[in-house]
Amino acid sequence: MPAYKSIEWLEDQKALRLLDQTKIPAELKYVTLSRVEDIAAAITDMVVRGAPAIGVTAAYGLAVAAWQEESDLLSATMTRVADADAILRASRPTAVNLCWALDQMHNRVARQQPTSLVAYRAALVDAAHALAREDVEINKAIGHAALDIVPQEATFIHHCNTGGIATVDYGTALGIIRIAHEAGRKVHVYVDETRPRLQGGRLTSWELQQLGISHQIIVDGASGFVMKNKSVDMCVVGCDRVAMNGDVANKIGTYNLALVAKAHGVPFFVAAPISTIDPEMPSGDQIEIEERPASEITEIDGVKVAPEGAEVFNPAFDVTPAHLISGIITEKGIIYPPFDETLKTLFLSNEQD
Ligand code: MRU
Repeated sequence: MPAYKSIEWLEDQKALRLLDQTKIPAELKYVTLSRVEDIAAAITDMVVRGAPAIGVTAAYGLAVAAWQEESDLLSATMTRVADADAILRASRPTAVNLCWALDQMHNRVARQQPTSLVAYRAALVDAAHALAREDVEINKAIGHAALDIVPQEATFIHHCNTGGIATVDYGTALGIIRIAHEAGRKVHVYVDETRPRLQGGRLTSWELQQLGISHQIIVDGASGFVMKNKSVDMCVVGCDRVAMNGDVANKIGTYNLALVAKAHGVPFFVAAPISTIDPEMPSGDQIEIEERPASEITEIDGVKVAPEGAEVFNPAFDVTPAHLISGIITEKGIIYPPFDETLKTLFLSNEQD
């Protein structure tokens, strides 16, 4: 079992402790945050990252805000939490989990109808704990659902980082690989290093090492060579937002990987908790794609690797069109094309549960 926790509520300090993902693998360092502004900055600066992890972090951010308020008035605290909500919502744009988790917090707390400050604060902490617990259960369910399609000896290509640190534990796409390994499947993973921030080379490889899972890091551009010359059973990736036509936003480079997979007849699967499916998003064309600082591309660990003044375009995500996706693996099972129909059915059955 990995000896780290991505996200932890410190009840005695009314603060949130995050594993600092910008420091991995060089050091295992935690930051303790007791101001919502610092929590939002940790999301923007990718101290915490990965769609489910930023959702749960934002959820705890509301609890932190409720304790940050110095007055002992319920109304003032509720205003503080509303302000915190706006700050957190703006911290990163692409992953729907962030806004989904904040909406869940408000709905769940409203159901408790807290009438005192004590009850309100407790309801926020309890709701965030529930989202954190559910995230782990959902990831395990995704992993178990995928066992049906993972062969006894399975070779994967994985993009970005979707593991225990991108979630509360287990992970989505990486959770599939972990659960297959735990179920005794013989697993090997080609790990896309995932330029520019190297979530694969730095984080996924580190997580796979802790889990004792066989893997090799490859540069992103090697996926074509690997699919042509090695026997790859499937690509498996996570996602930040699934549109209702089955288009999927995920880490930049996912689209290229899906095209290469199509060219080589390699199945391309997306792991998605239902919270990552956005019922308001008709197609991937409308998904807001975050652009990040030029320095992520022009510098590596503070060392310039591009000429001074070089211009940069740095979209952090891309959209893989539905027709390149073989299936979407959710906690309620695997859905297949036509996604515009199967996503609707999934949503309806999920609402009935
Ligand atoms: O920019 P990042 O590192 O937050 O991007 C993360 C991804 O694209 C992941 O694939 C996605 O959030 C799913 S994490 C379970």
